Amino acid sequence: VYEPSSSSAPPPVLRRKITGHVGFSNLPNQIRRKSVKDGFQLTVMVVGESGLGKSTLVNTLFNSAIYTAREVLHPAAERPKTVAIENIHVDIEENGVRLRLNVVDTPGFGDFVNNTQSWKPILETIEQRFDAYLSQEHRVRRAKMVDTRVDACVYFIQPTGHSLKQIDIDFMRQLHDRVNLIPVIAKADTMNDDEISDFKDRILSDLSFHNIRIFEAPIYDDDDEESLMECTEIARAIPFAVVGSERVVRAPDGRIVRGRAYPWGVVEVDNPAHCDFGKLRQMLVQTNMEALRAHTNELYERWRTERLLSMGVVQDASVFEEISPAERLQEERVMHEAKLAKMKSAMQEVFREKVEIQENKLKQSEVELYARHLEMKEALKKQWRQLIERKEQLENPSSPDAVSIFALVRNCRPKHEAA
Ligand code: GTP
Repeated sequence: VYEPSSSSAPPPVLRRKITGHVGFSNLPNQIRRKSVKDGFQLTVMVVGESGLGKSTLVNTLFNSAIYTAREVLHPAAERPKTVAIENIHVDIEENGVRLRLNVVDTPGFGDFVNNTQSWKPILETIEQRFDAYLSQEHRVRRAKMVDTRVDACVYFIQPTGHSLKQIDIDFMRQLHDRVNLIPVIAKADTMNDDEISDFKDRILSDLSFHNIRIFEAPIYDDDDEESLMECTEIARAIPFAVVGSERVVRAPDGRIVRGRAYPWGVVEVDNPAHCDFGKLRQMLVQTNMEALRAHTNELYERWRTERLLSMGVVQDASVFEEISPAERLQEERVMHEAKLAKMKSAMQEVFREKVEIQENKLKQSEVELYARHLEMKEALKKQWRQLIERKEQLENPSSPDAVSIFALVRNCRPKHEAA
């Protein structure tokens, strides 16, 4: 029976090697079977200016028309004129393994005259997704939790050959603490090998100058030589210079390949000598998907701590410290109250703003009314003065009007009366 020790030091752990077969070495197989049965999930966000080949690359990565579904729902012409967030959910299957793929697209990023805040709606989405996960964790029934967190953000860099643009730096600086950043050089077939290599160096030095952390695949101590080489190659290729294509073309040697055909030759998407597409796919789905998810969890934990501290929750028990249900309830109550207080102050702020707007409108219409009143008063005064003048003219017998009226009256009298 485990009894928590009163001292803060953890109890010593004994190490033993067993001689006979017990069977727990079969544990990884059990996990494999369960994982295959449950399926996997990956949430990838794609960010980059319009036309850099985001949808083509996602379709190429998963070898399926993931983006047609979105085009049917939201044709490009109808899409909003601000940075929007669009979600695509697809279930794909390979050799009996199911993957629920969620693609979070960000149409409109970097497409405006002023792009200084383009990163903001994207950061908000990532944090809202963390928030949604956090509220699920606090539910009484948590059996069917949905992981809403973004596992990776593939950021498309324009193949300019110069260095990172301000929008790239701003975006990555704001987001690197919240999501695994995977920068890629878009449409790498528009540059030659030397240009790509120089561009990569510049990008890496920009990233280190601005202290931007991008996702790095972990290297494990027990990795064999082949895996080590693979990981090193992937790490060396970052930022990946990618080419996307949903079409198959005939290579000069007669092979049918996925690629882009030009008058001078064929760029093969899956050929490592032509581009880094394969390495990106390897990192995202073949080798490092779990590492991405694990690192997302670390980022989430950091965000969660910040969030709870900002809400006034200060408890943090060590592993061996017991937390009583009463304390937990109290903690949850504090959190709930802090949330309510925050909502209340937000509502009060909105109310105050609305009252202020109405007051300003009232003041404005009061001023307008007073001006109209003065105008009408002035017009009436003027009319009054004109009437007085007219009256005086009519009452004066020598005035031309009075003379002509007398003449008119005389002419209108019956003849005998006039005589
Ligand atoms: P939005 O949907 O507007 O955000 O654009 P997008 O970034 O999704 O770009 P999309 O995939 O629609 O590609 C735009 C154009 O670039 C299409 O004509 C593609 O065929 C082409 N394209 C895509 N990938 C590549 C590439 O790697 N190299 C070259 N040269 N062209 C590409």
